[in-house]
Amino acid sequence: MSLVLFRDTRCLDAQVDVLWDDDRGIAAVAPPGTLSGHEIVEGGLVTPPFAEPHVHLDAALLGARAPNRSGTLREGIANWARLREGLTRDDVIARARTTLAMYREHGCLRVRTHVDTGSLLAVEALLSMRDANLQVVAFPQEGILRAPRRREAWERAVEMGCDAVGAIPHFERTTEEGWESVRIAFRLAEKHGLRVDLHCDETDDPGSRNLEVACAEAMKETVPHVVAGHCTAMHSYPQPYAAKVMELVASAGVQVVCNPLDNVVLQGRYDGYPRRRGLAPVDQLWAQGATVGIGHDSVQDPWYRLGTASLLDAAYMLVHVGQLTSETDMKRVVRTLHTENHDAFGPRPEIAPGARAMLWWDAADEVELLRTRGKPRLLVA
Ligand code: FE2
Repeated sequence: MSLVLFRDTRCLDAQVDVLWDDDRGIAAVAPPGTLSGHEIVEGGLVTPPFAEPHVHLDAALLGARAPNRSGTLREGIANWARLREGLTRDDVIARARTTLAMYREHGCLRVRTHVDTGSLLAVEALLSMRDANLQVVAFPQEGILRAPRRREAWERAVEMGCDAVGAIPHFERTTEEGWESVRIAFRLAEKHGLRVDLHCDETDDPGSRNLEVACAEAMKETVPHVVAGHCTAMHSYPQPYAAKVMELVASAGVQVVCNPLDNVVLQGRYDGYPRRRGLAPVDQLWAQGATVGIGHDSVQDPWYRLGTASLLDAAYMLVHVGQLTSETDMKRVVRTLHTENHDAFGPRPEIAPGARAMLWWDAADEVELLRTRGKPRLLVA
């Protein structure tokens, strides 16, 4: 048995001693100076492990093979569609493993990946890797109603054992078909007892109104957990409509997962100047009491060539673009990574006796962590 004492370390808003037992996990949390151990680590910051609510492992690390010249979401989708034809099972698994290792190095132990149901080979590959810490969402990248056989492939992927049903309503041909695709996704999730996780209104078009339909469906409480990802149209909504929808999101219990790294480069591409930022208004969602998550979305894929699998990078971008630079807001952004980001998986982990994993950071507090964005010491029992 090896006992590591993290002495006088920061945990949320307090200084504490945390005693880590390599066999049993966190053995004790007590006021500073009250515990002892074999190895002593002074100061720093402790947090629970992070969770990733939104990434695309099937496309990760492929960006260099198809550079996005226009920078638009649409070119990203077209480039991916070409790459998808050449996928092999081994390649999907190898890239997913590498990316998951990158996440782990950065303190993220749970990952929810979307998988494009246009490749059942990729669906099968990612499902073969699934465990309690890896969830797979059946994501029809090119819609379900735009062309023949897409809906069938998406339904087949769900039957193969995905954890959640995805959709991309703003990419369907018409507004009505977008709304219909949301309803079809909820019916499919109900049928299989699954969750729903939509790519929802990832556009700068303020007329993209799929989120309200998703909220209305969520309010029927027929599926256990509903996520609306991206929701960038919200950035451009007229304020009276934005107020209505944000209230709806909060009362429906829909979690909005924003993806600041991708959307700060993908959105606003059709604007001249001034150019919109294209990010869901996290400050206003918080003010309404809505649940927010922060995703990395892309790790060096056809939509975003950069990407480290560090959720702190996504948090850092959100703080800048969303102007969440008060002390309170910066702390809340960091805490989201180990609180709301876990909501799709189960109970939120805590720094408490009995916890089987924790992170120690060489940073005095959460603001310094956000500034330095180093790698943690990962402790798993
Ligand atoms: Fe995405």
